[in-house]
Amino acid sequence: MAQVDIREGGAIPEKQLRELFAALGWDDLIGLLPDLLLNSTFVVSAWDGARLVGLSRVVSDRVYISTLQQVGIHPDYQRQGLGTELVRRCVERFGKTSFILTTDDASNETFYGRFGFRMAGNAMVRPHD
Ligand SMILES: CC(C)(COP(=O)(O)OP(=O)(O)OC[C@H]1O[C@@H](n2cnc3c(N)ncnc32)[C@H](O)[C@@H]1OP(=O)(O)O)[C@@H](O)C(=O)NCCC(=O)NCCS
Repeated sequence: MAQVDIREGGAIPEKQLRELFAALGWDDLIGLLPDLLLNSTFVVSAWDGARLVGLSRVVSDRVYISTLQQVGIHPDYQRQGLGTELVRRCVERFGKTSFILTTDDASNETFYGRFGFRMAGNAMVRPHD
């Protein structure tokens, strides 16, 4: 495995963000990237030198509830423990709050279940306009 550094904080150049989100197929979010990070409570990222290879972010009131957003590891770097380390840091930092993670893919439970996430039937979601 390449030497990958974990960094905390949202000061990430937009070029690197665009490349990672494109690799993950998250093209619909690319135009929103600067604001997504600026308005996040916590951002943690993984770097192979100057290459951004992973990202996770939290939006939180810090005392009651947090949402975990866009946990993504570049396909070339998946299954090497990076997603685990990014989510671990997010959950640890806001561990006194409940977490919400929106997903319509039940297979995500294998990964997120390791951090205590469970599929729940008690949420309402209002999709954006
Ligand atoms: C899901 C994701 C964040 C996991 O990150 P990762 O760095 O690849 O995961 P890790 O190496 O930390 O995996 C730890 C464990 O989680 C489980 N796991 C990880 N990815 C999995 C997958 N795609 N399917 C099933 N189990 C998975 C495995 O148990 C794995 O342990 P193992 O490799 O020893 O079998 C990453 O694969 C990813 O970015 N996927 C594309 C984007 C995405 O789907 N994001 C989640 C939706 S918000």
